[in-house]
Amino acid sequence: MSAQSTTPLVRRVDARHRYEILVDDKRAGLTAYRDRDDRRVFFHTEIDDAHAGQGLAAILVEQALTDVRASGMRIVPVCPYVAEFLKKHQEFTDITDPVTPEVLTWLDAQLGR
Ligand SMILES: CC(C)(COP(=O)(O)OP(=O)(O)OC[C@H]1O[C@@H](n2cnc3c(N)ncnc32)[C@H](O)[C@@H]1OP(=O)(O)O)[C@@H](O)C(=O)NCCC(=O)NCCS
Repeated sequence: MSAQSTTPLVRRVDARHRYEILVDDKRAGLTAYRDRDDRRVFFHTEIDDAHAGQGLAAILVEQALTDVRASGMRIVPVCPYVAEFLKKHQEFTDITDPVTPEVLTWLDAQLGR
């Protein structure tokens, strides 16, 4: 268990297609996406074990989704954590699109799987 001494910082890392959350200047987790036109497709979120259960995923995803709105884009929540978050935070409903089989096929091709 590590003490959280500073306010977590969220940053978008375009080159890696992800947002990262930093605690004490070290990466503690990420939420990964691919962009399809104006839709940001979130497919995986993870927080390091050392920081689990401290609400960091919620901070990370809330700031990432706020950035999506600021960018004039829309959200597609393939990641189960992001999908659950959106159920509890309906303020993003207006910019959320459904996960369709077609998006999943596109995502698999993007990720080479
Ligand atoms: C899921 C994960 C990102 C949560 O990180 P965290 O910082 O501990 O999460 P928070 O403290 O912000 O939030 C905990 C909440 O996440 C929910 N949660 C945990 N695992 C989840 C999952 N796989 N899918 C959806 N929600 C999940 C919990 O039920 C809890 O909900 P509550 O706040 O209503 O009680 C982290 O446990 C993790 O990295 N897990 C391994 C990777 C993974 O399964 N990622 C999700 C699917 S891509």
